[in-house]
Amino acid sequence: MHTFSLLLVILLMLYKTSLGIELPDDIKKCHFGDSQCLIHTMNELIRRYPNGIPGIGLAPLNVTQLDDISIVNRPYGASVWLSFYLQNLTNQGFNNATITQVKGFNKDPSSSSMIIRAYIPRLIHKGTYNMQSRILLFRANATGSFRSEFLNFRLEILLKAIQEYRNNKRYLRIYELKPKVDLQRWIISLDSLYTENTDMTIVMNNVINENWLEFWQELEPSMLKTFELCLTLILKRVFDNVAYDDLFLPDEY
Ligand SMILES: *[C@@H]1O[C@H](CO)[C@@H](O)[C@H](O)[C@H]1NC(C)=O
Ligand SMILES: *[C@@H]1O[C@H](CO)[C@@H](O)[C@H](O)[C@H]1NC(C)=O
Ligand SMILES: *[C@@H]1O[C@H](CO)[C@@H](O)[C@H](O)[C@H]1NC(C)=O
Ligand SMILES: *[C@@H]1O[C@H](CO)[C@@H](O)[C@H](O)[C@H]1NC(C)=O
Repeated sequence: MHTFSLLLVILLMLYKTSLGIELPDDIKKCHFGDSQCLIHTMNELIRRYPNGIPGIGLAPLNVTQLDDISIVNRPYGASVWLSFYLQNLTNQGFNNATITQVKGFNKDPSSSSMIIRAYIPRLIHKGTYNMQSRILLFRANATGSFRSEFLNFRLEILLKAIQEYRNNKRYLRIYELKPKVDLQRWIISLDSLYTENTDMTIVMNNVINENWLEFWQELEPSMLKTFELCLTLILKRVFDNVAYDDLFLPDEY
């Protein structure tokens, strides 16, 4: 009897190992294509694991590193030009995301694109900026710390992926990720814009914030590229670790 139960334990262990990396037990799996269930499960995952799950390759969601951003708009001879570089950028707030819509994630993930829509109440970016600008007679050449807050941020991620086989399991490989965003308000703060003149720094910050939409339109393409890289990295690590079939309940026959 004793030998038998030992054998059972070993068999069970071997079985588990052959199953590969699994989601945590407290995360409810869904059937393929069950969007309502997937919305619920993704939200549970975000609520319960804001600091990520190293075992499945999920990065912490409260702080994520973003790529450097560079915007150069220097038409020759113009009275307004701008070079703007953001470095060492961190993103805070993905942990407060609420998934609002999910499409795709069918049995055959390559058959159609997948869409995830999320609402994030506040997204904070912090980093270092370097700006050289000329706005009419005002020249600026400044380096300092940068902080931005996007309020009521809505994110749509369009995903295209193919399946790859490893150890007879299907893994998802993303080959295209397109983010789209919408926001209600952008609050920017650039410190030491004019080191010799704090009043001027305050005035300039106010001008930027009052005209945030124009600045956002200028920055949006670079920002989207940064989100694309960051989100691709987060999702890629999970899809590399956990087989696509292991993310879902087995199909019923
Ligand atoms: C993110 O979570 C980690 C782990 O709980 C914590 O140490 C860190 O302070 C958090 N960062 C932010 C910006 O909330
Ligand atoms: C970026 O961060 C690294 C390491 O934290 C630091 O050495 C570097 O000086 C930073 N660069 C800027 C432009 O802040
Ligand atoms: C996320 O939510 C927590 C709890 O409500 C809050 O303390 C934190 O400041 C929020 N993060 C951001 C970036 O707003
Ligand atoms: C901006 O300032 C830096 C350091 O103060 C200097 O090296 C650089 O030449 C300046 N650039 C312009 C265009 O004035």
